[in-house]
Amino acid sequence: MSGLEQVAAAPSANGTGPPARPADREVVLEMSHLSVDYGLGPTALHAVVDANLTLHKGEVLGLAGESGSGKSTLVYGATRLLREPGVVAGGEVLLASRSGAAGARMDLLKASERQLRAIRWSDISIVLQSALNALNPVVPIGKEFDDILRAHSRLSRKERRAKAEKLLSMVGIPPARLGDHPHELSGGQRQRVMIALALALEPQVVIMDEPTTALDVVTQREILEELVGLRDELGFALLFITHDLSLLIELADEIAVMYAGRIVERAPAAALYRAPRHPYTLGLLHSFPPLHGEVGPMTGIPGSPPDLAAVPSGCAFHPRCPYALERCARQVPLLGELEGSGREVACFLHGGELSVPVELAVS
Ligand SMILES: Nc1ncnc2c1ncn2[C@@H]1O[C@H](COP(=O)(O)OP(=O)(O)OP(=O)(O)O)[C@@H](O)[C@H]1O
Ligand SMILES: [Mg+2]
Repeated sequence: MSGLEQVAAAPSANGTGPPARPADREVVLEMSHLSVDYGLGPTALHAVVDANLTLHKGEVLGLAGESGSGKSTLVYGATRLLREPGVVAGGEVLLASRSGAAGARMDLLKASERQLRAIRWSDISIVLQSALNALNPVVPIGKEFDDILRAHSRLSRKERRAKAEKLLSMVGIPPARLGDHPHELSGGQRQRVMIALALALEPQVVIMDEPTTALDVVTQREILEELVGLRDELGFALLFITHDLSLLIELADEIAVMYAGRIVERAPAAALYRAPRHPYTLGLLHSFPPLHGEVGPMTGIPGSPPDLAAVPSGCAFHPRCPYALERCARQVPLLGELEGSGREVACFLHGGELSVPVELAVS
């Protein structure tokens, strides 16, 4: 049996295993029905449609999907970093508040600028895709740490310096480099500095949008491994966005997959790998060699992702889907839980007319 067949035909995780996310785990960030458009009126592009995503305390949630599927837009929309012509068309994004009463949650979409400033860095840190160029080129990196710590803490100058040194060491950079300017650091080091800054105030939620795109794959893996280690130590929840599904399968707890602006599958990482439920996820898994065992042919996904200005009717994936039913061109499948499995999928193969989940297999 080839590695690819192993992926497709491995024992099902649909409903047989225990739920991977006990209901009592604390939710730190919850996006509900989030929709983001570029532009207004009938010509608006729907870049994120009705997205639901929940991040639990201490969890590493990976968000994967091809270029243009809406991953960055989802983060910009959810965190109020969207620029024109982007507009949040609906939804709510609740962040567990550490300063308010126990159990209090703040809707980021309704928060004032002042409230947002107060929680940024201290409750939620966001490292954007352009992070490699985010450091001010004319100041030493030590000043970046000092600015954040001074604005959000009562530490003395000496304490701030000590904290900055500790943060830098935590991400594997010698503290003596605090005096360096960004151009004196490699891309990987600059990335690590951004991560150290993001963790400076020990936020409970960290969002990283493909922070390592411009770096080689080895550095990318090292950085995510380090982050997972820091998560174990510090307990923050991490939403990590990448094209690299194989990396997430190894390092994330949960994975959500986006296609044409919609989340089409969410499952514990191991279950997603063993038994993908959405044909698109299956295609993504067939786009890289198996993590273990024999390497078979990589079939990938035929065709290319849709242009948002002309998204196919019904399930946007149906023209590329080898399993498409007649109904898939007419109706949009909504994300729903596979009964009792702790995982969700938006596909008619697993609900509606076909009530029994179908084992996906390579034809
Ligand atoms: N400022 C903008 N104006 C109009 N359309 C935009 C704008 N920014 C992004 N888009 C469109 O929104 C869609 C989603 O883009 P987004 O950057 O969120 O994708 P992504 O999944 O993050 O891709 P990548 O993996 O390449 O980073 C794309 O079709 C893109 O062309
Ligand atoms: Mg992006």
